[in-house]
Amino acid sequence: VTAATGAAPERFNKRQTGGFVDEMRSVAMKLHSKDQSKEGEKETQGKPWPKWEPTIDGYLKFLVDSKLVYDTLDKILLKADFPEYAEFRNTGLERAGNLAKDLNWFKEQGHVIPEPLSPGLDYSVYVEELSKNDPQAFICHFYNTYFAHTAGGRMIGKKVAAKILNGKELEFYKWDGDLSQLLQNVREKLNKVAENWTRDEKNRCLQETEKSFKFNGEILHLIVA
Ligand code: HEM
Repeated sequence: VTAATGAAPERFNKRQTGGFVDEMRSVAMKLHSKDQSKEGEKETQGKPWPKWEPTIDGYLKFLVDSKLVYDTLDKILLKADFPEYAEFRNTGLERAGNLAKDLNWFKEQGHVIPEPLSPGLDYSVYVEELSKNDPQAFICHFYNTYFAHTAGGRMIGKKVAAKILNGKELEFYKWDGDLSQLLQNVREKLNKVAENWTRDEKNRCLQETEKSFKFNGEILHLIVA
């Protein structure tokens, strides 16, 4: 922090914190394919996402499974088997309540809301078990699931809405207050919690990123299921 202004040093752009979150983000960005982000290093598999042909049925599956996962994450934070989980309650990033409103809206439009499918069910069981004995790995899933939605998730939502919802903006993509500030607050909390981790524990967290991509990727693909 520069003494005169209290502002972050200029060598940090708005997404850089100088702490462990930068490492989490860097591992995550490399796991994107090149069509997903210019920072991605993986080859594209299947159709590049901007060419996806979503259907309402597929999108509803995605929203239902997403809600299940966000409900599970929030439940884990509330129960707080490890005290650091409590830091991440009420961050303003929570999505389950907004998703419930969206699903109600679809119902009012005459759509049948499907039951959750294996992508969401399997992921929920997995993170719930993990959270009981592996806080570093659990926090990796918390970060990736919540932050992915504010980045790529939002782009995808916009595109899907334009294609199949006459551009209607769902509550899933709305936050109370300034989203970049909410994200920055959570980045600072993540950095603070990780300050108490050994290098091995930090690596344990980073190594879990791939699993988070796999599970979240399967949930995203429900959009075109
Ligand atoms: C960030 C796209 C899937 C995790 C980003 C960014 C883009 C992007 C463009 C950079 C945003 C920016 O810095 O301005 C996509 C697309 C996806 C996808 C198009 C799928 C079609 C995923 C998945 C995960 C994920 C499956 C893992 C759960 C992240 C994370 C960030 C990110 C953690 C960093 C966010 C931040 O720094 O605030 N994504 N992504 N993404 N993505 Fe993805």
